[in-house]
Amino acid sequence: MKRSVQNILVTGGAGFIGSSFIRYLLQKVPDFQGTCINLDLLTYAGNPDNLKEIEKDPRYIFQQGDICNQALVEHLCFEHQIDALIHFAAESHVDRSILTPQTFLQTNVMGTFHLLEAVRKHPKIHFHHVSTDEVYGCLGADGFFTEESPYRPNSPYSASKASSDHLVRAYGKTYGISTCISNCSNNYGPCQFPEKLIPCMILNCINQKPLPIYGEGANVRDWLYVEDHAKALWMLLQQGKKGEIYNVGGETEWRNIDLVYELIRIISEMQGEAPEKLERLITFVKDRPGHDFRYAIDCGKIKRDIGWSPDHSFKNGLQKTVSWYMENIQWLQNVGNPPIYTLPAGGSFVA
Ligand SMILES: NC(=O)c1ccc[n+]([C@@H]2O[C@H](COP(=O)([O-])OP(=O)(O)OC[C@H]3O[C@@H](n4cnc5c(N)ncnc54)[C@H](O)[C@@H]3O)[C@@H](O)[C@H]2O)c1
Repeated sequence: MKRSVQNILVTGGAGFIGSSFIRYLLQKVPDFQGTCINLDLLTYAGNPDNLKEIEKDPRYIFQQGDICNQALVEHLCFEHQIDALIHFAAESHVDRSILTPQTFLQTNVMGTFHLLEAVRKHPKIHFHHVSTDEVYGCLGADGFFTEESPYRPNSPYSASKASSDHLVRAYGKTYGISTCISNCSNNYGPCQFPEKLIPCMILNCINQKPLPIYGEGANVRDWLYVEDHAKALWMLLQQGKKGEIYNVGGETEWRNIDLVYELIRIISEMQGEAPEKLERLITFVKDRPGHDFRYAIDCGKIKRDIGWSPDHSFKNGLQKTVSWYMENIQWLQNVGNPPIYTLPAGGSFVA
């Protein structure tokens, strides 16, 4: 049976995935008649431009603020008669978590705690927690993460997300709050801050800058087009069973180095240039400390129980993504070209 979802409080809706969810909800769900309130602090990763297409929609309300401000969250829940909260707001970049872990604990753990406390006072609200496959740690060459995989986070980021998952579960068990958790693999698509692999590589190709790759580029990630994640979350918000966990993934594994060669191929083709020109920019940098070798997701449960499947193949999604960044140079320029930082272990990253 479908949960009736009218008024939704979205946290972190100005970020990459949250904004995709809001655009999906307001543009692709024809029968959504409720209100969508976006609570976002607008950190470096939050960008109102991500919501330009829908900002005048009468169903949309933006509220700048911190998820740690529990009084504000309680007020929004009461004021807008919220019946579902979907929680995206987080510090989300692993490399930053190695440099400044405290911010990650504050936002990802304490922020989630304050949201749960607010919902405890409004027990009719269903709470959906958006989390990551990184909580499961690292795989070898074989196997997949399932919903039963043990938690073995390896970075301050994944440890903070794992902690928040545990809090959500505990609030469901202890206080009877209706909760759901989804753990998703790497997302890619429009509006992603260019500190993450795919937009960083596209931006640096456009600017003819070095393409920094950790170690030998052998690390493997599973990739999902962000709008397919948004679709999964909308389906889970309505159909996700109370207390359940769902893994979401693209069943598309790529080694980082192969992915960069594929991006170069697409960009070179679009620019009518030989790929060798961009291939020369590839620069191997010292590996990230605690770098997980491989993530891969078994997403059979969400397919079977919820009926979700992605609409984009990796080929199609990557082509759309590159085209979007090429056509939205202004968006990239407004975000700025992040400088390269040095990690304590001697590696470097784009931030
Ligand atoms: N990006 C991925 O590949 C991926 C994969 C799986 C899960 N996730 C999870 O999905 C969620 C969204 O990820 P993303 O990539 O869109 O992140 P993002 O960094 O692009 O966006 C985070 C958003 O949260 C906001 N925010 C940060 N701290 C806040 C606070 N204290 N109060 C209110 N708002 C705050 C930021 O302003 C920003 O708009 C995160 O919880 C992340 O852990 C991400």
